[in-house]
Amino acid sequence: MTDLFGRSDDVETDRNTQQNVTLGRFRAGDRAPLDFYETPREATEALIYHHPSLLDKPILEPCAGNGAISRVVQEFAGKVESWDITEREFPLDGVWNFLSEEGKEDDVNIITNPPYEHALPFIRKSLAMVLPGNHVCFLLRVLFLEGIERRKLFDEHPPVEVAVFSKRIHFPRA
Ligand SMILES: C[S@@+](CC[C@H](N)C(=O)[O-])C[C@H]1O[C@@H](n2cnc3c(N)ncnc32)[C@H](O)[C@@H]1O
Repeated sequence: MTDLFGRSDDVETDRNTQQNVTLGRFRAGDRAPLDFYETPREATEALIYHHPSLLDKPILEPCAGNGAISRVVQEFAGKVESWDITEREFPLDGVWNFLSEEGKEDDVNIITNPPYEHALPFIRKSLAMVLPGNHVCFLLRVLFLEGIERRKLFDEHPPVEVAVFSKRIHFPRA
């Protein structure tokens, strides 16, 4: 049997190794390439269920991965443009580096789960891209609310809503 750190019970020495215990789950380089973790469909369904008017405008998914969010938007009859830095199985509208390229369309609402390491620049870029009054919805850990740089963002752009899932959402490593 393995524990949270992927260690097997019978490796007694690992249990007592301070470095393994401390670094186990958060070791640098341990995250998926391009921070690719798929959004479980219930997360997108909950957002659309509570805010159906988001789909009154086309949705831009700027880092769509394998289309986990885009497919749910389509099922709810929303129009969606899906882009990512790399194409996987889901057919994208295009490949781009969202942080360094011009947006193609501004009269959109943005819904995404970004690469967490770059969440702050993704949010800033999204807010700068869309027309005033349009919406930018990011799926992030609650912990994202902490931090000095993020505080500056929230002072400039106070969130309209922070919705917290009561049941913890599990993001499988894709
Ligand atoms: C956490 S995954 C989420 C994927 C998808 N949004 C979802 O909810 O299932 C982050 C995605 O960001 C993409 N990505 C990382 N850096 C990017 C960049 N600079 N521009 C566009 N996409 C990027 C990755 O390829 C990956 O698909």
